[in-house]
Amino acid sequence: MRRIAVLASGNGSNLQAILDHLDRQGSSAPAQVMLVISDRADAYALARARRRDLAATHLSRSAPEGALESLLDEYQTDLVVLAGYLRLVPAPVVRRWTGRMLNMHPALLPAFGGHGMYGHRVHEAVLAAGARLSGATVHFVSEQFDRGPIIAQWPVPVHLDDTADTLAERVLRVEHRLFPWCVDAVARGTVTLGADGRVHGTLPYDFARFGVEGPRHPFVPDE
Ligand code: GAR
Repeated sequence: MRRIAVLASGNGSNLQAILDHLDRQGSSAPAQVMLVISDRADAYALARARRRDLAATHLSRSAPEGALESLLDEYQTDLVVLAGYLRLVPAPVVRRWTGRMLNMHPALLPAFGGHGMYGHRVHEAVLAAGARLSGATVHFVSEQFDRGPIIAQWPVPVHLDDTADTLAERVLRVEHRLFPWCVDAVARGTVTLGADGRVHGTLPYDFARFGVEGPRHPFVPDE
């Protein structure tokens, strides 16, 4: 059983999706969330963790260097999952958990990523650019913001009358499906980061198999 630490700054709906996914698998779950860390004391993600009696820690911006790594060590963390975490993870931590740290980004990387591109800012940039397609990207974390090897992506359309809120909602719905699959696959070792810096294994979402068209296709879930 792999041990997961989730880092989250906000609502924690992705954390919830991962917890629910692992719950549904019962004893055959490949991993367990052991710890939730937030840089914000009032993050609802912490409340979600406490409600389940999970360790939930606020790590303030002024916490000493090395505090995050010590905490991850204390909980013998195998996998680190960034679920709406808005702080840069220190390079030594990224290096130690290379191939074992995943991030969700609410757009199709490498577009609309990078420093300062998080949450609603991403959706506003997508709308401002007039992009017709956005989506969710899960990638392994590297030392550069949003540039690590991509594990899986799921596109959603951008509607002409979208606001950042309506687009965020559509993207979040696919995030909640895609992220647990990716966490699961990495925990099971069916998806790995190779020494060549590329992602290997069976992707949790494969357009070659599922196609991108069709009225009932999960491309646009529930629509
Ligand atoms: C999600 O949309 C996630 O993709 C985004 O923050 C939101 C967190 O929602 N992450 C980033 O923008 C990281 N660059 P949640 O707290 O409800 O999971």
